[in-house]
Amino acid sequence: MTSTQPADGPVGIGLDFGTTNSALALADVDGRTHVVRFASDTGPTPAFRSILFFGREEPDAPLRCEAGPRALALALEPFEERRLMQSLKSFLASALFQGTVVFGRRTDLEDLVARILRPLRREALEAGHRLPGPVVVGRPVCFAKAETEADDARAERRLRAALDQAGFHDTVFEFEPVAAAYHYESALERDELVLIGDFGGGTSDFCLLPVGPSYRARPRRAADIAGTEGVAIAGDAFDARIVRHRVAPQLGRGGEQRSPFGKRVPIPNWIYGELERWHHLSFLKTHENLGLLMELERAACEPEKLAALRHLVEADLGYPLYRAVEATKSALSREAASPLRFEDGPVQIDAAVTRNEFEAWIAPELERIEAAVDRLLERTGTATAAVDAVFLTGGSSFVPAVRELFRRRFGPERLRRGDELTSVASGLALRARDLQRS
Ligand SMILES: Nc1ncnc2c1ncn2[C@@H]1O[C@H](COP(=O)(O)OP(=O)(O)OP(=O)(O)O)[C@@H](O)[C@H]1O
Ligand SMILES: [Mg+2]
Repeated sequence: MTSTQPADGPVGIGLDFGTTNSALALADVDGRTHVVRFASDTGPTPAFRSILFFGREEPDAPLRCEAGPRALALALEPFEERRLMQSLKSFLASALFQGTVVFGRRTDLEDLVARILRPLRREALEAGHRLPGPVVVGRPVCFAKAETEADDARAERRLRAALDQAGFHDTVFEFEPVAAAYHYESALERDELVLIGDFGGGTSDFCLLPVGPSYRARPRRAADIAGTEGVAIAGDAFDARIVRHRVAPQLGRGGEQRSPFGKRVPIPNWIYGELERWHHLSFLKTHENLGLLMELERAACEPEKLAALRHLVEADLGYPLYRAVEATKSALSREAASPLRFEDGPVQIDAAVTRNEFEAWIAPELERIEAAVDRLLERTGTATAAVDAVFLTGGSSFVPAVRELFRRRFGPERLRRGDELTSVASGLALRARDLQRS
């Protein structure tokens, strides 16, 4: 249940630092939750974009750094120099990515993440919300790119350090799908075994657990959770397929260049791999890469396509490209076909995507998502028939093919959905309240 403001102040705070969107929620002593809304150009929003903008209006102007809705607004304004970073959560587990140089200053990943979380906290405080600790913070079951326990520990450590830098000093982690279960449970009138699927920007996370009034009545124990599972495939991976099939070919992917000996050889593919990953795109603009792109442009059989690629990197057009691709993808959740237009200087993309094409492109991703569900059911010894309900949440659960996968497996009568962008934060707040009771 969502109220306007917790009457006697919050007893639980939940923070969802998402790959694409972050959210903050408060729970009162009776278990009512309230999602904090942030000012934005389009009115108050619970979704604080996990995006970071650095820019200078003029060469000698001071460097501006904004996150969330303010960063989104600045991203569309003319700036002399700019840099936009997104999906930074996907770097947390990476031992290779330590940080970057931003306008001449070395900045580590923890600092970049803190620059998103700090204004989120400040805006909530300025809006009059009290934020007593401990704050329960979500984490995916498996961080993107975490292959070992050490990777996972690194991701958690870095996230905790960033939270601390941002002013959240007392934090406890909880799995994001478990939080979504708390949210789902808050409206339940009878006990059931639920499978939660949370499909975000970077990861798809699952958990299986009994929920309902008798569980809600007492603090939950770890043993109540039958199992969790996760896979680093979600909205960003779906976007990557659109980039690969509709954007990269216009920028030279699959083309050829002339070698110094006059032979025709393929243009290296790795650069297009970087193009497909939003969190890598704004890091492509290095002196070395630009030099390489210039060389490729000279040798390419279709130099205009390489010139367009260089422009995309040089002008840091990753974010506007992301917007165009995301708009096409989101439209495909409603329509059978959608245009994809992106024009900026030499980059001229005027294409279309049908839902059938999109579904064929993401079929391998859907298979891996389904395999994660299979693993969870198998590991917990749960028959499909034993699952009473399936709650699908997170922005990527809007994708019809994702929902279809569960409809086929569990039948439409067992599917539940809702609060796609806020269920995790609100569940984290309920978890925080639960911790106060135990
Ligand atoms: N209507 C839609 N159709 C398809 N995808 C959508 C739609 N709306 C949002 N998305 C996608 O949902 C994703 C964001 O969802 P969400 O905010 O739940 O992720 P997140 O919590 O930030 O990420 P994560 O949980 O992986 O860290 C993005 O990839 C976005 O493009
Ligand atoms: Mg999420």
